[in-house]
Amino acid sequence: MALPDSFIQELISRNDIESVVSSYVRMKRRGRNLVGLCPFHGEKTPSFTLYPDTESFYCFGCGAGGDVITFIKRIENLDYIDAVRFLADRAGMKMPEDTRDDAVSRLRLRILEANREAARFFHSCLYSPTGKEGLEYYYKRGYTDHTIRHFGLGYAPDDFHILRDYLRKKGYRDEELTAAFLCKKSASGHLYDIFRHRVIIPIIDIRGNVIAFGGRVLDDSKPKYLNSGDTLAFKKTNNLFALNFAKSRAGDGLILCEGYMDVIALHQAGFTNAVAALGTSFTAEHARLIARYASTVTLVFDADAAGQKGTKRAIDLLRDTGVDIRVITIPDGKDPDEFIRLHGPERFKLLMERAANDVEYRLIELGRRYSLDTADGRVLYLKEAAGLLAGLSSPIERDVYAGKLAQELSVSKEALLSQVESRRRQQAKKQQERQLSQIVRQSDDVQRRINPEAQKHPRAVSAEEALLGMLILHPDYIEAASQVLPPEEFVTSFNRRLYERLLERHRNGLLIELAFLASDFSEEEMGSITRMVREARERVSSREEVVRCADVIRKEHQLLALEQPERLSEEDIRKLLEAMRDKKS
Ligand code: UTP
Ligand code: MN
Repeated sequence: MALPDSFIQELISRNDIESVVSSYVRMKRRGRNLVGLCPFHGEKTPSFTLYPDTESFYCFGCGAGGDVITFIKRIENLDYIDAVRFLADRAGMKMPEDTRDDAVSRLRLRILEANREAARFFHSCLYSPTGKEGLEYYYKRGYTDHTIRHFGLGYAPDDFHILRDYLRKKGYRDEELTAAFLCKKSASGHLYDIFRHRVIIPIIDIRGNVIAFGGRVLDDSKPKYLNSGDTLAFKKTNNLFALNFAKSRAGDGLILCEGYMDVIALHQAGFTNAVAALGTSFTAEHARLIARYASTVTLVFDADAAGQKGTKRAIDLLRDTGVDIRVITIPDGKDPDEFIRLHGPERFKLLMERAANDVEYRLIELGRRYSLDTADGRVLYLKEAAGLLAGLSSPIERDVYAGKLAQELSVSKEALLSQVESRRRQQAKKQQERQLSQIVRQSDDVQRRINPEAQKHPRAVSAEEALLGMLILHPDYIEAASQVLPPEEFVTSFNRRLYERLLERHRNGLLIELAFLASDFSEEEMGSITRMVREARERVSSREEVVRCADVIRKEHQLLALEQPERLSEEDIRKLLEAMRDKKS
């Protein structure tokens, strides 16, 4: 599906890459460019770079790169057309008419519409006689009508067909209802409702779409929660419950808890910056999502063993993103919901204020594993603690905690600090090696996938990439290139495809910019293309360079043809003979 060039052109000029990216990543100016922490992989030193002149981004760490549309595809997890639609909405532009016939994005829209209808339906049930049980359940938990309305809470009646019939009447087809994860087909082939006899919590994304549901039983039966599976409109690991409300308060930091009910109770108590992962354990994607909105996160997981394990896991993942982590341990084995119900918001606020930061928490946890009243136990503890302190990036923090620890265990602070420093050097070296080998492995993998022929023809590929990068950076050389090098002479087919695309746009008098390639090349391919452009910046570009690259490519192509005589065309043979004749004379 092709969108008119003029539309894309207006889209990118109205969605300046700097402002789009800056709403996800904190960027700092460095010379002509901007740098920040890459939102696509965990890192502590910024390797994510924005090039305002070519309206592109590139990450030296993970190879992600491209134009503003590719950025939105990746960060919002959208396909090309939905990414364009996203940017059009952002700029207040109307999409050209013919784009709606994209079947997938149409189904996605239908799912969102069906979800919204379902949410309304569940909510209205709550205040009808069928929903009495559900409403009582919420009241018993202390939720006010205001909270119920605010979160759009609802109730799914104890009935196999009530939602199905309601939505069918509204014109939804059975395939749409199953694709939305609202209904399922039984073995005998008829459709039934998935959510029954449960209180319903709609999951709403940051744009206000109802993307999924969680349903809780009214008693102690199992499973306690039933959650929507992933659909075209919903990916569990890309969403946090209540982020739609919390994001406006994220400047004060986010509170991360475990359950829907904890979040709702916290919001009702005034802590409207609380969010939770959705019926799944916390993932690296969740961590990045949090880091995108907040610079501080306070973990308030349940006090049980599972909660403590979850806390550790979340700390490890969040640490990679560089956000400040604080941890609250709820006293007397409660979850935050129960704590607030028992002790009120003021006490919770005190807990927040006193929240131990994560270093202290981990030191205490570590201390529990050793018997600190024996010399041996203390030595072992100090060794581990030195490793932990070595992981702190701030020297002041290292100094403060080393001082505290030294005093507590009556050892010399200097000795402890020198242990910490040596662990730091070890860790840094290991980390560097790991990162380097990971980068090499990753870029090899990507290269292999995108351009499988590249490894066999390194000389040809570097000339092809140099040429292509140069042509995108300086489209005025395309004419010269087209005169000396036809696409057939390219050695690798990926690069040939890109070259053909550039020539075609040039022939039609169209602009050459990365954004115009985003509809034809995948995110990974765009990353690779952006790398070529970035490398071209660091070299001299000139007409002579164009001719030199073309020569290398042509020679490599001829060599290849010699190895595979069956690939020689008559024209090739004629040229080869000519070349030999020229040599002789
Ligand atoms: P909890 O058991 O702590 O739930 O699970 P909760 O939200 O505190 O519920 P109440 O207070 O007992 O009513 C935490 C989260 O784990 C997921 C849900 O997202 C829940 O909010 N979960 C739990 C499931 O997805 N399925 C389950 O069966 C249980
Ligand atoms: Mn609970």
